[in-house]
Amino acid sequence: MSNRVRKAVFPVAGLGTRLLPATKAVAKEMLTIVDRPLIQYAVDEAREAGIEQMIFVTGRGKTSLVDYFDVAFELETSMRSAGKSLDALEPSRTRFGELVTVRQQQPLGLGHAVWCAREIVGDEPFAVLLPDELMLGRPGCLAQLVEAYEMVGGNVVAALEVPPDQTHKYGVIDPGATDGRLTEIRGMVEKPSPGTAPSNLMLPGRYILQPEVMRQLDSQETGAGGEIQLTDAMARLIGEQPFHAYKFEGARHDCGSAAGFVIANLAIALERDDIAPKVREYLAGR
Ligand code: UTP
Repeated sequence: MSNRVRKAVFPVAGLGTRLLPATKAVAKEMLTIVDRPLIQYAVDEAREAGIEQMIFVTGRGKTSLVDYFDVAFELETSMRSAGKSLDALEPSRTRFGELVTVRQQQPLGLGHAVWCAREIVGDEPFAVLLPDELMLGRPGCLAQLVEAYEMVGGNVVAALEVPPDQTHKYGVIDPGATDGRLTEIRGMVEKPSPGTAPSNLMLPGRYILQPEVMRQLDSQETGAGGEIQLTDAMARLIGEQPFHAYKFEGARHDCGSAAGFVIANLAIALERDDIAPKVREYLAGR
């Protein structure tokens, strides 16, 4: 058994109903932020953090994600014979065996999606990344979590402050002792009723977890919204294993919502030297 975090689970089987009608025919994770699909940003973040195996939990209509990371023989051959550079394709290449997929036949909740990967994860710590949450930081969010994990071990999840009137939308932690960016977690609750949240620290979708969380998910217990919730399974491990939140240093964009998606496009465009001047000029004229 390895204590190093080598595997990452990407739950990508959700329906993406907040971005309909686009997501009727295009997987949410394939929508582009500037010129890269969302899933590329999450995979890049995982690679930067030293992840060696990407496990996609897919569902119906999500095959394009797997194709995207495959070799595009015709495209590459045509580009080569036209003398065009293949550099732009580099991030979408995977090493043999780097990408593994498993199917969640019904979207029964995030906890259920993670549980579908239990045999592939096996008996070692693993990361979970929700690709529709675009986390921009230097180093990336998962690399920050891995660094914290190497100090405290156990389970380490990213946390972010949100305005108190927003906590009912998220998984929220009950914080204990704090040391810099690390906070012990005493409890967690998924989508607390307004006014009942134990803090304004929400879970933005980056986790390092011990394999025992899979045993908690075996019970298939449903929680908020009638879904099998990852937050509930994690909460049951508190007290049995070390559990810390790490206040991520950087920006988060919820690309599963239309406003978050547009803002993420602007944020990335404004960081790109080749695009920023035109975008700035447009915005200045509004
Ligand atoms: P969301 O609730 O944000 O995603 O789930 P969704 O269901 O795709 O979107 P909406 O709310 O209908 O617009 C968070 C993450 O968990 C995955 C989603 O793909 C997303 O990455 N998920 C959720 C699953 O893989 N399976 C599920 O059963 C539920």
